[in-house]
Amino acid sequence: MNESIEAISLQLSVNGKTRKIRTDPNKTLLYILREDLGLTGTKDGCQEGECGACTVLLDGVPVNSCLVLAGQAAGREVLTIEGVGQKGHLHPMQRAFVEAGAVQCGFCIPGSILSAYALLGSNQNPSEDQIRGALVGNLCRCTGYTKIVDAVKLAAEVMRNE
Ligand code: FES
Ligand code: FES
Repeated sequence: MNESIEAISLQLSVNGKTRKIRTDPNKTLLYILREDLGLTGTKDGCQEGECGACTVLLDGVPVNSCLVLAGQAAGREVLTIEGVGQKGHLHPMQRAFVEAGAVQCGFCIPGSILSAYALLGSNQNPSEDQIRGALVGNLCRCTGYTKIVDAVKLAAEVMRNE
């Protein structure tokens, strides 16, 4: 950290655990997660709010973590891809992405899954337009989106029947 910038202390909840950190106030939530907390599932893409690779849920709402400054995250609840499922116990949304063949290079997938997860939290049976709308900020260079939409439909069906 730049020596002339005074570190700030902040507390936030990440994936259900309280985390206390001292960090550069100019650091974004993206880098707090990746560098201070070692949660590299949140991807570092454009750093300017365009690609959605850095999407996390902040108090349940999808945000581009590259646009959230440290102080704005204080006291908030953050959900990252590491909190959605565990190794060996994938969330139905994660399983659906695999089963639908929606994962190619994988770079956009954590962000896409978190946007879709938030959608299904408020709408258990979204239309294709609603799915595409929820994912509009998550750019994917590989899939053409069709299989991602299929995956969200599959996850919705599985989750409705659970
Ligand atoms: Fe945040 Fe691209 S890295 S939107
Ligand atoms: Fe490669 Fe989406 S799977 S960018």
